[in-house]
Amino acid sequence: MQIRAVVRGVGHYLPERIVENSEFETMLDTSDQWIRSRSGIERRHFAAEGETTSDLAAAAGRAALDDAGMEANDIDAIVLATSTADLTFPSAATMVQHKLGMTRGFAYDMQAVCAGFVFALSNANALILSGQAKRVMVIGAETFSRILDMTDRGTCVLFGDGAGALILEAQEGEGTVEDRGILATDLNSDGKYCDILYVDGGVSTGTTGVLKMQGKEVFRHAVEKLADTAHRSMAQVGLDHDDVDWIVPHQANIRIIKGTANRLKVPMERVIQTVQDHGNTSAASIPLALSVGKQEGKIQPGQLVVTEAIGGGLAWGSVVIRW
Ligand code: UT7
Repeated sequence: MQIRAVVRGVGHYLPERIVENSEFETMLDTSDQWIRSRSGIERRHFAAEGETTSDLAAAAGRAALDDAGMEANDIDAIVLATSTADLTFPSAATMVQHKLGMTRGFAYDMQAVCAGFVFALSNANALILSGQAKRVMVIGAETFSRILDMTDRGTCVLFGDGAGALILEAQEGEGTVEDRGILATDLNSDGKYCDILYVDGGVSTGTTGVLKMQGKEVFRHAVEKLADTAHRSMAQVGLDHDDVDWIVPHQANIRIIKGTANRLKVPMERVIQTVQDHGNTSAASIPLALSVGKQEGKIQPGQLVVTEAIGGGLAWGSVVIRW
């Protein structure tokens, strides 16, 4: 017998306002055609004025609770992956805890930028395996629209806002790869690449700052590192590409998604794609894709799902889940 962190519910929330690529054509020297062909993005959602990351996260959390048939006080812990918390402190997670009406347990933020959700999943898995929590809500939520330089066509067209949430529950498994739940995780970071993707503000500058990215450099690392981490996490438990039902990748760029799937020898029919509708929502992109994939009837109980993500740090990783 082995304790496993099993998915009990999933949900998401997207702000109402949809921004089509064509909107950027009126502000910048860019085109719908360039954005589509270089990134696969067609549209993204932007939060309304006054709508914060914790608002998005709480809405996704409520949807996941509904899906699981649970109430907020059934949850022991909230781990919220975000780089766009409402305030410097307290954590957006504590705000979500309050917004959900959760009066027990504990909540905190996790910051690994676009890889945040895989770091948070791995951390929630550790909480469950160590017995510190039985039910953990893992959320990825971002309002990247607030940290974009709307005059930088190389970045502002790529990102969007949104939130997704997953509820994990401790259940007993047999200790085999047929068990439902998280089967393996692989996390990595390398701080020597801090300067290829960062926000030029924070406590040290007294400003919020805007996102700066050397897109080509990040791209170069992405395909290689994503395929490596996915191979490593699958190999930990003796699985390979033939065993995979769904790759649920971080949704940054369709060319990265295709390049990684190709290296993993998984056909695109087995890859969940939401980048066209959401843009890059950083830590929110994987839980959004999981929720949409389930809603569309693609991801089914018992299937093998591999998630992988890379972002600022650089930080990257993957998680293998039997859904
Ligand atoms: O989630 C965190 C991880 N982030 C990522 O994974 C993003 C990784 N990078 C990328 O997705 C791609 O590098 C981009 C989509 C950002 C850019 O694609 P690219 O094929 O690497 O293009 P590039 O940066 O080399 O730019 C090619 C050209 C440049 O013009 P010149 O120098 O060749 O004359 C850019 O100035 O395209 C120009 N350009 C644009 N043109 C129209 C850059 N942005 C735009 C734009 N519209 N929005």
